[in-house]
Amino acid sequence: MTLCNPKVWIDQAQRDGCAVAAFNANTAEQIQAVVLAAEAEAAPAIIQVSHNAALYFGSGNATLGLRYFAALGTIAAQSVSVPIALHLDHATETEVMQAIALGFTSVMFDGDGYALEDNIAVTRKLTRLAHDNDVCMEAEIGAVPKPGDAQIDEHDLELTDPDEAQAFIEATEIDTLAIALGSVHGVKDKHLGIDLARLQQIRARVAVPLVLHGSSGVTDDYIAQGIKLGLSKINIATQLNKAFTLAVRDVLAQDDRLVDPRKYLTPARAAQIDVVRERLRFVGAAGRAELIP
Ligand code: G3H
Ligand code: 13P
Ligand code: ZN
Repeated sequence: MTLCNPKVWIDQAQRDGCAVAAFNANTAEQIQAVVLAAEAEAAPAIIQVSHNAALYFGSGNATLGLRYFAALGTIAAQSVSVPIALHLDHATETEVMQAIALGFTSVMFDGDGYALEDNIAVTRKLTRLAHDNDVCMEAEIGAVPKPGDAQIDEHDLELTDPDEAQAFIEATEIDTLAIALGSVHGVKDKHLGIDLARLQQIRARVAVPLVLHGSSGVTDDYIAQGIKLGLSKINIATQLNKAFTLAVRDVLAQDDRLVDPRKYLTPARAAQIDVVRERLRFVGAAGRAELIP
């Protein structure tokens, strides 16, 4: 299929009490793993590309990286019969505009570091551009820390303020809202909880689907409860990277004469397919491809 705008599926998942899963990709094999797993589970799925992934794939040139990912994402989506979206994750204003022009079907402006009024002004402008191009628009209020951030200590986390979230939605008209509930990006083992009471307070004021970032470090029990309470898009990156890299490490450890990358990237792709399939089932996305018009 051609790349799809995921808004309809995320809205539908919200109504049905399940979620859509969004998988970060840094390599061509990781993109292939997402679409092959989605096909195997008859699930819609989102491939996401971060600013850092675009920089990596463009060898330091994020614009070139976005062009590569637009081409790869388009071909990957066309190679399967389930709906696939290509999302730009944690991006700057310029990157969002470039991604929309390149055919991404979903974008996230990360206003972390902007004053609230500036975040609102840029997000509103980008939302109009996104909607004019049939692209789903995500933005963030409150910040989920990234590796290296100063406030990474879980006791210092600044969670999303429900009133601010409501005002942000009314002012920007975005399609999905990323909120900070206590998760942290880049955590390699699942041990964190999220603030479910705060999620309920935000849900009571905000009608749009809510997005969980940094899901890899959150226990499945919390994610499952969060989905029931209105988290409708679950972002997954580190959990995939971990499976992919452990598989490479295993193969290389068995043969220090091995030089053909296909010999270790094939098991890495297979390991990631397993994790993506399991996550699609976990969030309740398996079998839902046929519900999408
Ligand atoms: O939320 C972002 C993902 O964890 C991707 O991380 O910026 O290192 O690509 P990254
Ligand atoms: P993790 O790396 O913790 O899975 O976070 C993914 C994410 O939030 C991508 O936007
Ligand atoms: Zn994120």
